[in-house]
Amino acid sequence: PRSIFFSRHGESQYNVEGKLGGDSLLSPRGMEYSKALPALIKENIGDQPLTVWTSTLRRTIQTGENLQYTKLTWKSLDELDAGVCDGMTYEEIEHAYPDDFANRDEDKFNYRYRGGESYRDVVLRLEPVIMELERQENILIIGHQAILRCLYAYFHYLPQEDLPYIKIPLHTVIKLTPRAYGCEEERYPLPI
Ligand code: F6P
Repeated sequence: PRSIFFSRHGESQYNVEGKLGGDSLLSPRGMEYSKALPALIKENIGDQPLTVWTSTLRRTIQTGENLQYTKLTWKSLDELDAGVCDGMTYEEIEHAYPDDFANRDEDKFNYRYRGGESYRDVVLRLEPVIMELERQENILIIGHQAILRCLYAYFHYLPQEDLPYIKIPLHTVIKLTPRAYGCEEERYPLPI
């Protein structure tokens, strides 16, 4: 059976600073992850073919740069657009837009950032990615937290209201193996 691997990009400079969005590069720890990824994948699939999908953002491309497989970048895999809050920390957002901050907490799936997106918007723009994913063989998606939550929820049939809270940790590869009913799952955390 074919496998779908999900990984967030390695820790980025913005992750270290607690900032949302942006297009920062990897931190030194993130670089370590990018170096460790090829061995983990190889151990898992051996010589089977694999295609790597990234977003157009530098932190996902950098995370995949040591992998010797065919790669494809998808604009639709870019992180949820936080609009006017892009580049801010949660603390800064709470201070600058207290009502928005509370509204997001109230209904995280439907909350749309000013000038940006909601999780609902992201689910819609991921539709073509999911269509293609359904037709493919082994794929590794190097993505972002919100994006991988949406894809993960799709393959595990999780409800919308739970989707924005799914735990997709950094430096962990999640392997899904589609079966007749639902997906089998394994997680490979790397101690980085
Ligand atoms: O903090 C990393 C990040 O990928 C941000 O770029 C993004 O806005 C956020 O996570 C999404 O997570 P949440 O919806 O829980 O704020």
